[in-house]
Amino acid sequence: MYILSAQEKVGKEVVLRGWVYRKRESGGIIFVVLRDRSGIMQVAVKKDVVDNRSWEAAQNTTIESSIIVKGTVRQDQRAPTGFELQASRFRNVQVAEPFPITEYQSTELLLDKRHLWLRSQKMVAIMKARALVFRYARKFLDSRGFYEITPPLITMAGGETGADLFEVNYFDQKAYLTESSQLYAEAMVPVLDKVYSFAPSYRAEKSRTTKHLAEYWHLEPEMAYYNNDKNMKLQERLVSYIANNLADNEDILKTLGLNPEDLKKIKPPFKRVTYEKAIEIVNQKGGNLKWGDDFGVPEEKMLTEDEDKPIFVYAWPKEIKAFYARVDPKDPRVVLGADLQAPHGHGEIIGGTEREWRMDVLMERMHEVEQAKGIKFNLDNYQWWLDLRRYGSVPHAGFGMGMERVIKWLLNLDHIRDAIPFPRMINRLTP
Ligand code: 4AD
Ligand code: MG
Repeated sequence: MYILSAQEKVGKEVVLRGWVYRKRESGGIIFVVLRDRSGIMQVAVKKDVVDNRSWEAAQNTTIESSIIVKGTVRQDQRAPTGFELQASRFRNVQVAEPFPITEYQSTELLLDKRHLWLRSQKMVAIMKARALVFRYARKFLDSRGFYEITPPLITMAGGETGADLFEVNYFDQKAYLTESSQLYAEAMVPVLDKVYSFAPSYRAEKSRTTKHLAEYWHLEPEMAYYNNDKNMKLQERLVSYIANNLADNEDILKTLGLNPEDLKKIKPPFKRVTYEKAIEIVNQKGGNLKWGDDFGVPEEKMLTEDEDKPIFVYAWPKEIKAFYARVDPKDPRVVLGADLQAPHGHGEIIGGTEREWRMDVLMERMHEVEQAKGIKFNLDNYQWWLDLRRYGSVPHAGFGMGMERVIKWLLNLDHIRDAIPFPRMINRLTP
């Protein structure tokens, strides 16, 4: 049984299994605050009530020891949560060594001891919220006729810039960890029509920002016969669904100091601004962007600091978007795609585009990119993907949502590393 349900059992006997959160001794009573996934509860172990073995176990117990306690629930205003367990039996499952994390610790130490720091009340709340965000995302797509697909993560070629790939030794070949599963999601469109891949993506990003991970969880839906407009509508519904459902978890939000009302306000439609207009907004706030520049962290902040909901930035110059993005027939300078920018400077949470689905136009586009960037696509690696344009190609669109970016925004975290249990960043590979 968890602490939360025990609290509904005032006057009754319950058994709790948890870990020692705090401990103090006062006369013939040892107060142990027990922690489990649902919260904390004070346990009073009285020398003249329990047997010798229980008293000794309570004496020997230490911070983060695993314990099993039997006792009667009482209401007690002096206890931290208003409830107390009067122990009749106390057992250590394992007595913990002196816990290496004490009250004031450096960020570095907390990252070194991440496997233990995850037990802190704040991290417990974040990990619950993370699981819920994943759950809601799946629920939304599953209930709208999507099939989840499972792409390979070891690949031969990049799908994005290809500049940030991690190389792996694949038997006697060079291979890469995937930077996006989009190309494989596209291959599943003629198989299942509406699909999503929910898997890690890897980026050997050298940037040390508060929003870059080297390994992140990437949700990538791909849909037949979707255009850019339908693509954006799906995104705003998905994001709102996640935010609105998360708002119902008041205990988690309270622990993190968040107001559920802020999440309930996230509703479609989201504002749409062109890239050109976005540059204007940024430059009015003191930015210095010109056509063709990408947005950095400061520019994203200027663009979204006054917003309460995410905004779409669309009609990006084709030079700064991927080669597969479909060029707008009405304005050949730009592509039919949008980035979704989270409010208050949390940055880009989604990138999505209509895909170029016509073989001849796609080949032309790839040549153009080769010329502009002075690169050469190894077409051997792309033949399977080009086949999709040779055999029953259809217009389609999709997007990629960075789950940790979404969690960082929804929970208003300072750094993306706290949105994932074991962050992988340029300077961190352990634990
Ligand atoms: O904008 P990106 O690079 O787009 C793609 O990879 C497309 N192939 C997606 C698709 O259309 N299927 O990445 C998509 C999202 C970004 O908007 C961001 O949320 C997240 O992935 N992302 C990162 N999250 C954490 N750390 C990083 N280094 C990230 N790079 C991208
Ligand atoms: Mg992007």
